[in-house]
Amino acid sequence: MRLEKYLHDLGYGSRKEIARLLRQREVVADGVRVKNGAEQVSETSAVSIDGEAVAYEPEVWLMLHKPQGVITATKDRDHETVMALIPERYARMGVVPVGRLDKDTTGLLLLTNDGQTAHRLMSPKGHVTKVYDVGYEGVLVEDAVARCAEGLDLGDFVTAPATLELLEGGHCTLAIREGKYHQVKRMLHALGGVVTALSRRQFGPLALDETLAPGQWRRLNDEEICALKAATRGGQR
Ligand code: URA
Repeated sequence: MRLEKYLHDLGYGSRKEIARLLRQREVVADGVRVKNGAEQVSETSAVSIDGEAVAYEPEVWLMLHKPQGVITATKDRDHETVMALIPERYARMGVVPVGRLDKDTTGLLLLTNDGQTAHRLMSPKGHVTKVYDVGYEGVLVEDAVARCAEGLDLGDFVTAPATLELLEGGHCTLAIREGKYHQVKRMLHALGGVVTALSRRQFGPLALDETLAPGQWRRLNDEEICALKAATRGGQR
């Protein structure tokens, strides 16, 4: 393929932007300095920009430790979005959040440009489990654990069976399989509580990387991507 396609697929912009990049920065392909976007490269070529290797990986998976106060959307007129926390070139590659966390929710947010797998991960039919750490006020009904296990009636829908674990001091964990709007908050409300803090720590087979501070992100490795895809096919969920 042409070098300009290679760089375009990796989010380096339009043909014009790539022509500028080739003029202004040192792009080397297989040991040769390249200034012309028409030069041929392959997926396995060793390409670098200003000495930094650029791998041809058009499929991107990121794990973000979402902080509070940022909204899960690709654009918003009034608020900072999670897209501001990742490099712009990923947005140009079509990377978007997988589902959403509320503005005040923290924790594990995946972003990808693999729309098909993202859709499967979020589909209630996919049954991929998401685990939340919850802080709440109030006293939950006595049979809260059993009611979650049966599937909780929220009025407009009954949740899939969920696993509630009650902890000390107004804390619990809740594992759910869907991702309906405000689902955890609504479930706690139906059980007699009010959520005061919410953080997602697990999405299917992936746990939030504890080395990521709020606002930090990293690429998923191949093993993690395979595990996620397996989860949508009925592997570990
Ligand atoms: N459930 C909620 O209520 N909020 C979230 O952000 C995620 C799950």
